[in-house]
Amino acid sequence: MERTFLAIKPDGVQRGLVGEIIRRYEAKGFTLVALKFMTVSKELAQQHYDVHRERPFFASLVEFITSGPVVAMVWEGDGVVAAARKIIGATNPLSAEPGTIRGDFGINIGRNLIHGSDALETAQREIALWFKEEELVSWEPHLTPWLQ
Ligand code: TYD
Repeated sequence: MERTFLAIKPDGVQRGLVGEIIRRYEAKGFTLVALKFMTVSKELAQQHYDVHRERPFFASLVEFITSGPVVAMVWEGDGVVAAARKIIGATNPLSAEPGTIRGDFGINIGRNLIHGSDALETAQREIALWFKEEELVSWEPHLTPWLQ
């Protein structure tokens, strides 16, 4: 079953949007596999954003993501990697469609509330980077058969 990594960034936590953001993934029908509330070390932040190491915003990005607690999560479901990105919206919240998380709650590209893996391979790398195997919980939501 497909899995993705999502992290509510420090601005999402500070603005009290944790419940609202998690609600959207629950309501859509995806299954929560792992969740932890944590502060991010500089090393983890640098590894997580390694592809952006040479970009001019790298230092401020690392500084921001380490500036306060984040909610790190793994979600599971058919097509969850792409669907989770759709729910998040475009990188720049000003261009993100209303109805998406960034479109509804953000205006600043450096404060865009949530991270979501951009591809299946990235998701696997990020899940392994943020979580130990034993922190991933495999379970079956008990839906009545005619609602599945
Ligand atoms: P990116 O992986 O391109 O976006 P996304 O989060 O939508 O996958 O960039 C990672 C983060 O870097 C992005 O969420 C916000 C930050 N960022 C900037 O601060 N300035 C920029 O110009 C870009 C492209 C990203």
